Amino acid sequence: MRVRKAVLPAAGFGTRFLPATKAIPKEMIPLVDRPIIQYAVEEAVASGIEQIIIVIASGRSAVEEHFDSHPGLESWLEERGDIEMLRVVRRISEIGPIAFVHQKEQLGLGHAVLMAKELVGDEPFAVLLSDDVMLNPGGKPVTEQLIEQYQAHRGSMIAVQRVPRDDVDRYGIVAPLHQEGRLVEIDDLVEKPSVADAPSDLGVLGRYILSPKIFDKLETTQRGAGGEIQLTDAIRALSAEQPVFGYQFEGVRHDAGTRLGWLKANIAMSLESDLADEVRAYVRSLDLRD
Ligand code: UTP
Repeated sequence: MRVRKAVLPAAGFGTRFLPATKAIPKEMIPLVDRPIIQYAVEEAVASGIEQIIIVIASGRSAVEEHFDSHPGLESWLEERGDIEMLRVVRRISEIGPIAFVHQKEQLGLGHAVLMAKELVGDEPFAVLLSDDVMLNPGGKPVTEQLIEQYQAHRGSMIAVQRVPRDDVDRYGIVAPLHQEGRLVEIDDLVEKPSVADAPSDLGVLGRYILSPKIFDKLETTQRGAGGEIQLTDAIRALSAEQPVFGYQFEGVRHDAGTRLGWLKANIAMSLESDLADEVRAYVRSLDLRD
């Protein structure tokens, strides 16, 4: 079955980014020149996704407004003759059908995904966590890579990447059953294990292709770590019934959900943009001695 739909949860409190996230969701913080979530939406579209479903917190409309048209701004840009920016602004609202669903209470990532159940229906779907910004310049977008693997192996697919041993306690970590090339058959998942207990250094990152059966699992998943309904717990339950794979994708991932990761992502991504020469000159001009 084709993977046509993608769910992008954007309803978290973003506490690691407070107070920036008091009035706007973390997903609306800009990275170089666009909100973090726009990169994920563009990745989904470039991967062949036809329907985007964004989960937002009730009463918070910034994401919805960003993807809507803005006639006042558009005519102002047109009058000024700024056709280039007019194109950029229009392109955002023409990106494709985007549906919004509300999460009334912040009960966790798993709960946010469950909010999209009716819109997804009985078909496999992608999940993209926008604060993991995945770039693969000149190659296939990470979501497309996972979709291809899903089609080839008929099992739910999770993006994984080797993480430094000392950082395993910040990730969901895969216990591999069998590994062949980039593909890892998953025996189990452990959420944020201690360095000593980690079954591997393969960390789960924010891209998934999930079987619709995950909704049954989410409905019966109890609140876990942090009092939240964890997607990882539901995927563990799913893996007892259906194959679940990890895929070591090709590409670079920036952790834009933390202040340091976001700063690094801004530097790295601006060095790939039209600002590159000036950013390079500025960084060189800094006195970096302790
Ligand atoms: P995080 O674990 O990063 O949580 O969520 P958070 O609230 O956004 O940020 P911190 O940890 O407090 O700093 C992973 C993804 O799940 C979404 C977030 O928006 C993010 O995309 N999420 C999380 C929801 O949509 N709803 C929730 O209840 C929790």
